[in-house]
Amino acid sequence: MDMKIDVVQFCPKLFDKEANLEKINDIITSSDADLIVLPELSTTGYFFTSREETEKYAEPISGDTYSSWQKIAEEKNIIIVGGFAEKAEDKVFNSAAVIFPDKEFSSVYRKTHLFYKERFCFDRGDTGFEVIEYEEKDLRLGTMICYDWRFPEAARTLALKGADLIVSPSNLVTDVWHISTPSRALENKVYFAVANRIGTETRDEEKLYFNGMSAIYSYNGKQISKAGEKSEEIISAEIDPKATRNKSFNEFNDIFSDRQPDLYWQD
Ligand code: ACM
Repeated sequence: MDMKIDVVQFCPKLFDKEANLEKINDIITSSDADLIVLPELSTTGYFFTSREETEKYAEPISGDTYSSWQKIAEEKNIIIVGGFAEKAEDKVFNSAAVIFPDKEFSSVYRKTHLFYKERFCFDRGDTGFEVIEYEEKDLRLGTMICYDWRFPEAARTLALKGADLIVSPSNLVTDVWHISTPSRALENKVYFAVANRIGTETRDEEKLYFNGMSAIYSYNGKQISKAGEKSEEIISAEIDPKATRNKSFNEFNDIFSDRQPDLYWQD
């Protein structure tokens, strides 16, 4: 069964959760996709500089962000993956809400590898890399967030757990990920969709520039769709999740059963 995915690239307003959520929810409501991916920290903006600040803006899954996305997902039969600052008891995570039309399947992914000053503002994620099998759309979905891309173990873990599609809400500040992400798609034979943001944020005289170019790659590593560097836009692709499941590429080779883990580095 083919499915349509939309990847949203926009410029969130720093710390203006209400305006960002309204804009995002309008976009999701107008989408005709089966699955929509939003950037990292899409409701708050990115450049937190202290723990106090993240605690102020983070919200639990009972908050407006997660609950409004759950409601829209149910109404529209759409899967939504989007970044938000999550409060969970005394912890604060850089999380992605992974929302399915059937709420029993909905969950969060909490960012594992914290980038730059995030370490002063967030706790390390504790969910690990999980794949959610959603039979209704015949999809096995894996999620990572932004800087997780630098660790091939993230995509490998998701692929070995059965992912057909890896989605990555992101706030990328370099463009080198375009070198590695197609390789993660190819070597794992999975689709890979990166939703990046655009714009700049300046805090304490330090400016971060987010470079857009959100992209969707096929399981052969080829780019299916790519956004511009500065424009707010939605890129789309039709994907066939089942096509990723046979990992052989000739009569004798299969990229998973050919692995030789006893000869690899073990931590
Ligand atoms: C990043 O992890 N936001 C670069």
